[in-house]
Amino acid sequence: MADPLAGKRILLGVSASIAAFKAVALASDLIKTGASVDVVMTPNATRFVAPLSFEAITHRPVLTDLFDPAAGSIAHVSLGVDTDAFVVAPATADCIAGLALGLAHDALLATALCTRAPTLVAPAMETLMLEHPATQQNLETLRQRGVTIVEPAAGRLASGRVGRGRMAEPADIIDVLRAKIGRPADLAGRTIVVTAGGTQEPIDPVRHIGNRSSGKMGYAIATAARDRGARVILISAPATVPPPSGVELRPVITALEMKAAVEDAVQGADALIMAAAVADFRVASRAEQKIKRTGEELTLHLIPNPDIVAGIRSDTLVKVGFAAETSDLLAHAREKLIRKGLDLIAANDVTAPGSGFGGDTNQLVLIDRRGTEVLPLLSKREAADRVLDRVCSLLAERKASLPLDATQNG
Ligand code: PMT
Repeated sequence: MADPLAGKRILLGVSASIAAFKAVALASDLIKTGASVDVVMTPNATRFVAPLSFEAITHRPVLTDLFDPAAGSIAHVSLGVDTDAFVVAPATADCIAGLALGLAHDALLATALCTRAPTLVAPAMETLMLEHPATQQNLETLRQRGVTIVEPAAGRLASGRVGRGRMAEPADIIDVLRAKIGRPADLAGRTIVVTAGGTQEPIDPVRHIGNRSSGKMGYAIATAARDRGARVILISAPATVPPPSGVELRPVITALEMKAAVEDAVQGADALIMAAAVADFRVASRAEQKIKRTGEELTLHLIPNPDIVAGIRSDTLVKVGFAAETSDLLAHAREKLIRKGLDLIAANDVTAPGSGFGGDTNQLVLIDRRGTEVLPLLSKREAADRVLDRVCSLLAERKASLPLDATQNG
């Protein structure tokens, strides 16, 4: 199958960061997808990587100077207009500030003002610069303008310090780009409710019963649904990663809070996807004060939480659950599919390497009433898209089976 980026025109903006060397790999990987790539660099970026490196890979001239007569006086206009997507990687704090303010003093910024194509920005900088309120405000300005921020990762930085600010890997940037421009907006007009994270059940004011969910699987589904055009309501229990932008975030802590939020959000929604790890039990009576060590044993009295997804009854809502299992994956998942009245269940063996809690990959088995599809080990983003492919089919089937007068009303 052809890569969704094949034939697309991608404009790559490179600003002055040590991560500029990764932009060479990004250009090369983009070319391998079948896309054509133009590069525009800030003058200081050329001190990190020579334009020739990009020219050798893309077989196209690189724009570095707004006033270069050889490039033509309107090169920034034609580059900005004739592109399917603009990817700024790496984006320094200075470049992000220029993009947010609409400055145009270099070729990259001037080109950015001329493009109306979907734009991705991959920040790269020291943690202190990234976390500075000025940078955060500039990033928020870009998000509100519809720019997709490809979040930087944590790791060793150029200064030798360790922290967040490393530019996302080329493969991750390309994944986001594929989702942004390579897919049809097949969920446009749909409202998708996604739950994510792990609920926490308080024991006393300082302790809780929790689980190992990072929120990554649910957030990947929310991001993928957003990129496919859906209005996304993300009901998130505590998670270890930042939530995606461009979704309606409804934070919750406990299973009971999640239940109330889900019941409210599904009114008028098309699908509910429960990726959250929900506590099955809560402490019967939460201590008002911190429980003191006495040297004696302590017994907690746990009572069952309601099953949130099982309690949602609707003929029109597509209901998708996850099954986190440590044994007999298929048998347990099939039982949950039926007992919870689900249309689809995504089962993951949370003891398998690369699957389940915390990591960036998952191996899902999709089970509905007709059969079982074993997916390969995929990034959580790719796995999310496979779940959404099935949601799209279920929504289409649901519409086809509705009585005529119901379909006429939309
Ligand atoms: O967040 P990550 O670190 O990326 O990890 C992803 C994940 C492992 C959490 C995710 O892939 C996953 O498996 N989520 C479901 C976890 C879970 O609670 O599974 P379960 O088998 O206990 O529950 C089955 C389904 O019922 C789930 O959709 C769950 O959300 C729902 N449920 C469970 C209990 C409850 N009281 N109410 C519910 O609605």
